[in-house]
Amino acid sequence: MFGFNKTTKKFLDLKGKVAIVTGAGRGMGRTHALTLAQAGAKVVVSDILENECQLVVEEIKKLKGQAIAVKCNISLKTDVDNLVKVTLEEFGKIDILVNNAGIFPFQPFLEMKEQDFEKVIDVNLKGYFLMSQACAKEMQKNEINEKGQRASIINISSIAALKGFAGLAHYCASKGGIMAMTRALALELAPLGIRVNDINPGAIDTPGASSTSMTEEQRKAMLLPIPLKRQGLPQEISNAVLFLASDESSYMTGSVMVVDGGWVAG
Ligand SMILES: NC(=O)c1ccc[n+]([C@@H]2O[C@H](COP(=O)([O-])OP(=O)(O)OC[C@H]3O[C@@H](n4cnc5c(N)ncnc54)[C@H](O)[C@@H]3O)[C@@H](O)[C@H]2O)c1
Repeated sequence: MFGFNKTTKKFLDLKGKVAIVTGAGRGMGRTHALTLAQAGAKVVVSDILENECQLVVEEIKKLKGQAIAVKCNISLKTDVDNLVKVTLEEFGKIDILVNNAGIFPFQPFLEMKEQDFEKVIDVNLKGYFLMSQACAKEMQKNEINEKGQRASIINISSIAALKGFAGLAHYCASKGGIMAMTRALALELAPLGIRVNDINPGAIDTPGASSTSMTEEQRKAMLLPIPLKRQGLPQEISNAVLFLASDESSYMTGSVMVVDGGWVAG
């Protein structure tokens, strides 16, 4: 049956897999980490927010999952190398990478400084490059499965890669870059048995993009172009992450999965 493991009786089973999730201290990264752990993966919960990572690890342990917390700023190669080193020491391999950490500071284009632009590109785009490269070097050593595959990389882009948003020129550029890089990596890493896919979320209710700071009028205006007339829940993105992490998505690489309540369909 689709997605059902006869031995463990689990849908979308990740037992025996090791996953790294970046930006997992809060928001969508947190729910990705919890979801992968509940599916049986050993999870490395990583973020610049050390205490928040530890809290997520405790949540996972309460659910009888396995996890460790590792502080990592994805824009720093030394931090990324350390994250990979600690993961290998603790769990021995890397099967799944969820590149999720991201920043989205609103800034009018004419006031945007060079450093503002560089910071967003450093985290959102260079960070995904550093993480993907460091992990893929290890992933290529994994045992090959019956479909010739070894690992899965999931990049969290945004619908900002598909449509413009005023005040987010740097962010749109970074997210478009992630989508384009996903396709290039899918080609280069397919011969190594590593799938690379991209998820483009729409408006998701997280601490970073909370609707609670909006007036009722701003909230209504935001929901107007969204056919499903609501913000998405972090779990609704984690469900897509889980699918792309699992072997059930074994024929997908270089794909762009839009999860946005229909926003870009309009
Ligand atoms: N919330 C949305 O509406 C939305 C929509 C589309 C895409 N996204 C993307 O989804 C991802 C998660 O967003 P979210 O809404 O959960 O955000 P969030 O701000 O709630 O969480 C992001 C996490 O990333 C961490 N982080 C920031 N810079 C980092 C760095 N340099 N290294 C490591 N960790 C770092 C933060 O500490 C935070 O814990 C981001 O890539 C974001 O661009 C969000």
